[in-house]
Amino acid sequence: MRRWLGALDHFDVAAPFYDRVIRGQAIDRLRELAGLTTEDWLLDVGGGTGRIAEGLRPYVKGVCVLDRSPGMLREAAIKGELVPCRAGAEALPFAASTFAKIVVVDAFHHIQEQPAAARELLRVLSPGGSLVVEEPDIRRPSVKLVALGEAIALMRSRFLEPSALVQLFAASDVCIRVVEQAPNFWVVVEKSGLGR
Ligand SMILES: C[S@@+](CC[C@H](N)C(=O)[O-])C[C@H]1O[C@@H](n2cnc3c(N)ncnc32)[C@H](O)[C@@H]1O
Repeated sequence: MRRWLGALDHFDVAAPFYDRVIRGQAIDRLRELAGLTTEDWLLDVGGGTGRIAEGLRPYVKGVCVLDRSPGMLREAAIKGELVPCRAGAEALPFAASTFAKIVVVDAFHHIQEQPAAARELLRVLSPGGSLVVEEPDIRRPSVKLVALGEAIALMRSRFLEPSALVQLFAASDVCIRVVEQAPNFWVVVEKSGLGR
């Protein structure tokens, strides 16, 4: 049972009913923090069913929803207008500096190789671009309960506190700030426009 649960992709199973169960989205906040414009393509990493991407779509030129779960991406494809891409965040299939805007919403704690994913996100972000990572704040009791539930379900989630997430993105050519509103926080990474 334990081995079976460990091998299971929970999101493939949840995909058909995910949007009906998971509610709440900070579209306006994401739009503002990422500085979205209709000039830019947006990459939504761990974008799942495209629940967030669909809300952000009117404010950008186009959206690529990247996820490792085929089931979740099938739901994103049904929505139309979103470009699904099956890949892991740890090895993004794009050239350096491809995207001016990137979001990662409620997904970073599900990524197994977090330092590798952070490096990849910085690599594909273009100079002058911005990356916004939205995460549940593990310092909050309600989020601790969610983390416990995910641990019991063998989801292998790893929630980071804001300071630890900031450290993963620390680099000489970025400016980072944190915005908090319980039960979530947002790490906003802006890459210098001068390039490397
Ligand atoms: C809680 S869902 C969030 C989906 C979407 N961002 C939203 O807010 O509706 C987390 C998503 O992250 C994806 N995911 C987990 N690990 C990943 C990885 N290493 N690379 C890409 N996607 C991943 C899962 O398949 C799942 O679709």
